[in-house]
Amino acid sequence: MPNEAKSIIMELEHLSVDFPVKGALPFQKKRRVQAVTDVSLKIESGETFGIVGESGCGKSTIANAMVGMIRPTEGKVIFKGQDLFALERKLFKEARRDMQMIFQDPFSSLNPRFNVYQIISEPMLIRGKSTPEEMKERVIELLRLVGLSDKDLYRHPSDFSGGQRQRIGIARAISLNPDFLICDEPVSALDVSVHAQILNLLMELQEKLQMTYVFISHNLAVVKNLCDHMIVMYLGKVMESGSTKAIYKNPLHPYTNALLTAVLDVDIDNQKERVILEGDIPSPIDPPKGCRFYQRCPMAMMGCKSIAAPLIEVEPGHFVSCHKVNGFPEPYANEENTRPLDPENE
Ligand SMILES: Nc1ncnc2c1ncn2[C@@H]1O[C@H](COP(=O)(O)OP(=O)(O)OP(=O)(O)O)[C@@H](O)[C@H]1O
Ligand SMILES: [Mg+2]
Repeated sequence: MPNEAKSIIMELEHLSVDFPVKGALPFQKKRRVQAVTDVSLKIESGETFGIVGESGCGKSTIANAMVGMIRPTEGKVIFKGQDLFALERKLFKEARRDMQMIFQDPFSSLNPRFNVYQIISEPMLIRGKSTPEEMKERVIELLRLVGLSDKDLYRHPSDFSGGQRQRIGIARAISLNPDFLICDEPVSALDVSVHAQILNLLMELQEKLQMTYVFISHNLAVVKNLCDHMIVMYLGKVMESGSTKAIYKNPLHPYTNALLTAVLDVDIDNQKERVILEGDIPSPIDPPKGCRFYQRCPMAMMGCKSIAAPLIEVEPGHFVSCHKVNGFPEPYANEENTRPLDPENE
């Protein structure tokens, strides 16, 4: 976890989010999707914090809980030292204004009937503190900041390319001067040719406007270049966390290792043999009792099936949730539990 001496802007304390889902058949009992389970983390002011993991592991759910859009089932979201969901309405709204999100798909996140001016000024209009002249001036300033111009003011989203639409989305997100910005897969819906431009723009804006970023991505090369700290998630749980440098240099969790070795263009410092993950991600409705990754883990042991793996600090600031790395806690460290798991009998 980040150094305590630096100021922490966002903290999650044992965050869990469940969603109720209807049974497949009428009269079947309602069940719960365990989207995020017991996630704790700290994000330092001014840093870029990465969240990585396969589709459905809970990345967007964490993002939505951080910005107050999803209420945690358990645990706390602490923004600038305040328990977000314990704030009274007015303070909650103020805190939410300081946190904004950029979404994956700039095609569906912008209202096609609005022009650029309406899209970008909407948050200012809702806040109700600016005159029309001030808003227009601010929108033009924002357009220039994101590499567009005042000529674009009255055009509609359909007049722009994907990369330009994402620039409009970014201008809207920063219109109220947030200090915490979540970028949820900000380039994955865009043409590869514009990825670098949008990422560079985000980095420039972070520097100019002193923002803290949460960067959600499945592109491990991008995370390596942009993020200071990161968590690797699997089926709602954190498998590994620490500085990006430490994790790329020495990936300890078999899942992190598999993710990293699967990406050929990522230059892992001590390149390991490629690990191919077999099998599907289990359902988050009924996740494994022990390590959530055990069914796909090439190193799984018998005890991994039923004994949960706590997240343990293995070197300063580098945490791993794996029995193979940490050993089974007492009283489970016996021969039966440490026997390799036989996938044939699973
Ligand atoms: N509103 C909801 N109701 C029911 N289940 C949900 C809801 N939102 C998310 N889920 C489930 O919670 C789990 C986590 O979803 P989430 O969107 O956070 O994953 P993600 O890591 O962002 O995935 P992706 O990479 O595909 O965006 C998934 O199993 C998803 O189906
Ligand atoms: Mg998502």
